[in-house]
Amino acid sequence: MSSRPLNVGLIGLGTVGSQVADRMLTWGAQLSRRAGVELCLRRVLVRDAGKRRSIEVAPDLLTTDPARVIDDKSIDVLIEVAGGDEPMHGYLQRAIAAGKHVITANKVVMAKHGPELLDAAAEKNVDVYFEAAVGGGIPLISTFRTDLQANRIERVSAVINGTTNYVLGRMAAGGLSLADAVAEAQAAGYAEADPTDDIGGFDAAYKLAILGSIAYEIKVRPDEIYREGIDGVAPIDFRYARELGYAIKLIAHTQRHPGRVEARVHPAMVPLDHPLARVEGAENAVFVEGDLVGQVLLVGQGAGGRPTASAVVGDLIDLARSIRRGVQSRPSFSFDDRIGVIPMGEVRTRAYYRIRVEDRAGVLAAIGQVFAEEGVSISSFIQKDAWSQDQTAELVVTTHPSLDASLQRARQRMAELEPVRAVSSFIRVF
Ligand SMILES: NC(=O)c1ccc[n+]([C@@H]2O[C@H](COP(=O)([O-])OP(=O)(O)OC[C@H]3O[C@@H](n4cnc5c(N)ncnc54)[C@H](OP(=O)(O)O)[C@@H]3O)[C@@H](O)[C@H]2O)c1
Repeated sequence: MSSRPLNVGLIGLGTVGSQVADRMLTWGAQLSRRAGVELCLRRVLVRDAGKRRSIEVAPDLLTTDPARVIDDKSIDVLIEVAGGDEPMHGYLQRAIAAGKHVITANKVVMAKHGPELLDAAAEKNVDVYFEAAVGGGIPLISTFRTDLQANRIERVSAVINGTTNYVLGRMAAGGLSLADAVAEAQAAGYAEADPTDDIGGFDAAYKLAILGSIAYEIKVRPDEIYREGIDGVAPIDFRYARELGYAIKLIAHTQRHPGRVEARVHPAMVPLDHPLARVEGAENAVFVEGDLVGQVLLVGQGAGGRPTASAVVGDLIDLARSIRRGVQSRPSFSFDDRIGVIPMGEVRTRAYYRIRVEDRAGVLAAIGQVFAEEGVSISSFIQKDAWSQDQTAELVVTTHPSLDASLQRARQRMAELEPVRAVSSFIRVF
């Protein structure tokens, strides 16, 4: 065991931070043995030092002064588990510039500024670890960074947001409306008081930006990712999906094409025999395809204080070992700036439309003509429920793969047809 301890500064003592501190304080000897060096929690930065905490931390460890953690020369490693873009991005930059290694669970910072932080760290010969920023306790980043490095990654598809998966699951099984399912998720502790980040697909887009960036070693920015939330999915769509052999999931998908990549987050109909269709509740799953390894599925708890702390403290041990040996155990990244993201309109995908029409002759022909003119080939065309009181019927159409722009134009043109009351749902088929 190395004689000088490795001093750690922690930012955040909330859901994740309290579990990280607890592991370090109550399991320190085992962690230090695995690391080969004593791991010492030196200081913890919080907003409110007087707040009641779920774990006991010696008062002299706590500070509300960022400089006492970031600028303290005796601190070797900064762990950031506070969240949000600024000031955390600035704190991490400052720590790296001062020659500290950093470990973060912050998906917003890593999605928006990850490549720059990694470049800055490489210049300073320090490392940035961020296993906990995507998929909580599931070993994703280390899998890409070490075990899959012999591969050219072809595609990554994921159910990466536990809140929306829980909500969609309740809508499917219990026939709940979106609002009721969200309220249930909030009561069960799976959704924030303001669920916009999850329901709107923002959280999944941040995670996909990180996964895409490390899978292909390019800079995938969150605002380049096509993003659609789950608010357009209605309870009836789950019934029709099941009849057609699909589950509805919020899918984050990225795929390699010559010179460019596809990157999108949206609800999708996933064939019931696909592993992602079987991801239940708040679980996450990431399905990776590499040219050598073939298909790999990683599944587990994508959130929660303990699983996330497992990833953070695992990073700390790995980092401590490489510091002790004086080598970087993991390869650094070199990001290729020339490869960009394909605009969604140019992506080829399949689609499902639910269309409310007047129940009269000629409707099917008019709809068929729109698809034909847009060059979209129909895979199935089914008349579902009919309502005699207002003489309308519901049609469900699925298509073969087509350009997304053509699918969207067909959607718009159908909505303008005289016998069409509404194109009630449009969901891509995976
Ligand atoms: N929770 C999860 O399941 C999970 C899973 C994966 C990743 N993450 C990520 O982990 C990070 C932390 O999440 P969390 O759920 O643990 O958050 P949290 O429970 O809200 O805790 C945040 C902690 O950070 C401190 N903090 C916030 N802003 C600060 C500032 N400006 N200066 C100093 N301290 C500050 C807070 O201090 P006070 O306690 O004094 O208010 C609190 O202790 C986020 O980036 C999140 O995305 C969380």
